[in-house]
Amino acid sequence: MRWLSIALFAFLHLVASKPLLSKRWDDFDVKHAWADVPKGWELHSPAPADHTFNMRIGLKQDRFDDLVAALYEVSDPYHSRYGQHLSKEEVEALVAPHPDTVALVDSWLADHGVNPASVERENGGSWVTVKVTIEQASRMLNATYGVYRHDTTSDYVVRTTSYSLPRILHDHIGVVTPTTYFSTMRSMKATSFLQPHIEPLHDGDADIARLLVNPGSLATVPSSCSTTITPACLRALYNTSTYVPRATNTNKIGVAGYLNEFANTADLQTFFRRFRTDAVGGTFQTVQVNGGGNNQNDPGVEANLDIQYTEGITFPTPNVYFSTGGSPPFIPDSNTPTNTNEPYLDWLNFILGQSSIPQTFTTSYGDDEQTVPFDYATNVCNLFAQLGARGSSILFSSGDDGVGAGNCLTNDGKNTKQFQPNFPASCPFVTTVGGTIRVNPEVAVSFSGGGFSNYFARPSFQSAAVSGFLTKLGTTNRGLFNTTGRAYPDVAAQGQGFQVVIGGRVSSVGGTSASSPTFAGVIALLNDFRISNGKAPLGFLNPIIYSTGVAGFNDITSGSNPGCGTNGFTAGAGWDPVTGLGTPDFGKLQALIG
Ligand SMILES: *[C@@H]1O[C@H](CO)[C@@H](O)[C@H](O)[C@H]1NC(C)=O
Ligand SMILES: *[C@@H]1O[C@H](CO)[C@@H](O)[C@H](O)[C@H]1NC(C)=O
Ligand SMILES: *[C@@H]1O[C@H](CO)[C@@H](O)[C@H](O)[C@H]1NC(C)=O
Repeated sequence: MRWLSIALFAFLHLVASKPLLSKRWDDFDVKHAWADVPKGWELHSPAPADHTFNMRIGLKQDRFDDLVAALYEVSDPYHSRYGQHLSKEEVEALVAPHPDTVALVDSWLADHGVNPASVERENGGSWVTVKVTIEQASRMLNATYGVYRHDTTSDYVVRTTSYSLPRILHDHIGVVTPTTYFSTMRSMKATSFLQPHIEPLHDGDADIARLLVNPGSLATVPSSCSTTITPACLRALYNTSTYVPRATNTNKIGVAGYLNEFANTADLQTFFRRFRTDAVGGTFQTVQVNGGGNNQNDPGVEANLDIQYTEGITFPTPNVYFSTGGSPPFIPDSNTPTNTNEPYLDWLNFILGQSSIPQTFTTSYGDDEQTVPFDYATNVCNLFAQLGARGSSILFSSGDDGVGAGNCLTNDGKNTKQFQPNFPASCPFVTTVGGTIRVNPEVAVSFSGGGFSNYFARPSFQSAAVSGFLTKLGTTNRGLFNTTGRAYPDVAAQGQGFQVVIGGRVSSVGGTSASSPTFAGVIALLNDFRISNGKAPLGFLNPIIYSTGVAGFNDITSGSNPGCGTNGFTAGAGWDPVTGLGTPDFGKLQALIG
């Protein structure tokens, strides 16, 4: 019903005001511009004028503040609305654009020869997709699209180093893509790396189980877990060994996969036979998003790691692997239509379009925050808020470069040294997972990404925890990070020496991309516990883990995350930007927030 009235209003508005407005479409104001061509990219050639692509426009969400207010209410354990998550329709009503916004944008599109009736609308109408040529897009955005080539991956993308919008549209449009976000699927860092093959010291979970004198007591985690991690290590360490999932008809865990990474079913069975024998025969579902593939002859390290460890912890909880496609790489000199090649947006708009979604998600991809345009980052971060409001817990790896890789120079034209936060890790609406290593005691792993956002202000859920840290820190690293930014990671889990089966062989894999699925696995079990007791799932985790849940974490108090030619930050008592609140103790979390 709402749709009909918006469309009608838009049509009337268009007819009534077009002559008045059309002059304004040339009064441009810059929306986003880079000082230089992003690092790693070079201009290859001008983009062919008749090349067509899908332009996605994020409209200003009329009642977004109300959505955020609702998100915090349903996620705050002290609020009467705690756990009363919103339906797809309720979220869409809050994020829908104002009818004036729809009308104005439609008349702008019409003025550029785009038929409003052919426009695709998603997410309550707040994301609009139109098929345009380079020539049209260049006129609409006063942009110069070029074909850019990446110097190490040799990927080609069609982007512009700046774009503008008519002045009157700035209050109505949040972001237009693809424009200035250069990251491609392949150049997004998959935060995992293969370690030299280390022969496991033991055969599998039966061996570990024999070593466990008293399951559920950290003191008995075998010392072999300091070098090789298996599901049995994690289940002992995080205290889930004795828990049997019961809500397997309702509860699900989702893994978001990109970069043509495919999770292999045969490898999962080999993994189970070796490391979790009671799970042999366990499966997962693959959902292909936007042309994402599922080539079983091409197992991905990241995909296999994510699936094997989420399942290794949560079996028999149903597990969904989302294989999100992108465009085929752009081929210069051919006029192949490509889609938007904006993986987060493709995945988020797909998942938000489903009425029933997994209660826990893990994602192991990220970029340096400064390479993601501010308008793109804020609009994508807001989509994660919608997932939280729907009742899903969103876990992200914190990154594998400590406080930053390389010389850490800013890209604002000033070339000053700054710690380099990661996005989406820096988005306040996701829960960011750092890395640890060793047992008895567990310590921070040196690559654990951590820091402070330059885009997102510090949310109140973490203000006490972070001020406590900053007071203790004193003047260390002063000037290298933003003391008012959203700080991360929120939590941590093991991140090195994971035994993963890839193409039938066991390899040792490390990175915070191992930490995120591990932590997500524990959250999925907590959701199982809550759901099987007739409660709502945890949803957006941050408000509860920084308050009633704090005592459910093993505080990690040593180790640091060097980077940018510095020693980085040091883990200590309480929250720190290396391991956050610490690693999960499932038994304690059950008692506190289960
Ligand atoms: C469009 O962008 C060019 C630079 O690419 C600039 O010189 C020109 O002034 C802009 N036009 C308007 C109308 O803002
Ligand atoms: C620091 O973070 C705030 C958000 O908390 C932001 O508004 C400000 O621009 C950031 N400063 C720098 C230098 O990036
Ligand atoms: C593990 O969970 C049990 C309850 O299942 C709890 O009693 C215990 O304190 C937890 N932690 C450790 C370190 O044993």
